[in-house]
Amino acid sequence: MFPSVVTGNIISERIMETIEFEHPVARSILTKLRDRDTGSDEFRRLAHRLGFMLAVEATRNLCTAPLPVETPMEPTLGEKTAENPVLMPVLRAGLGILAPFQELLPDSPVAFVGLRRDESTGEAEWLYDSVPDLSGRHVIILDPMLATAGTARAVIDYVIRMGAEEITLVSVVAAPEGIYRLGEYENLTVITVSVDRELDDSWFILPGLGDFGDRLFQ
Ligand code: PRP
Ligand code: URA
Repeated sequence: MFPSVVTGNIISERIMETIEFEHPVARSILTKLRDRDTGSDEFRRLAHRLGFMLAVEATRNLCTAPLPVETPMEPTLGEKTAENPVLMPVLRAGLGILAPFQELLPDSPVAFVGLRRDESTGEAEWLYDSVPDLSGRHVIILDPMLATAGTARAVIDYVIRMGAEEITLVSVVAAPEGIYRLGEYENLTVITVSVDRELDDSWFILPGLGDFGDRLFQ
């Protein structure tokens, strides 16, 4: 059985936590992304806008340190973020939401990994990595589509092997099958705007939005 959706937010009782990002503006943007008539220029702008909202959600629990500041009125105690999570876009689709994460986290290093699903088997194949030291780090993986989770599992296993301590996977649309296949991971939070109905026979998400990478770049 797949975990059922409970609104607001935690939708799985398993070790991994899944957050369905409940926000009317996010749902409206997602609807435009789904629309087959949305062209790539508009799709990129919408992905950026939604990426910013997801970046706010993904950084909700970052540690801060106290920072004294003088306002025009008087001294007070403020805060500054005390953690710079590593941003890891999964090529190609992850590039569509990287820039808004960098806007919010300008001091975060960026780690690149490239994988491609074999369209006939659904299996993810490694193509590329260029990654800084991940030991002890919080890694935010950016991959808008979570379908079979073959890609996500390969990336998460890699990040764990490289010593990361905390992992957040940011997606836009997820299939219940993919979420289920991530259930065994500890220290993993999955954030998604929508858990869709199911995968089709070619491992595409229904209703989904088609191929995110193609829609961004073609
Ligand atoms: C897509 C998507 C994810 C992956 C999800 O990438 O961006 O990385 O498929 O599918 P899965 O959960 O079944 O592994 P794709 O391999 O098509 O590459 P692209 O981003 O270059 O289009
Ligand atoms: N990758 C995509 O871009 N879309 C899907 O529906 C599944 C995997």
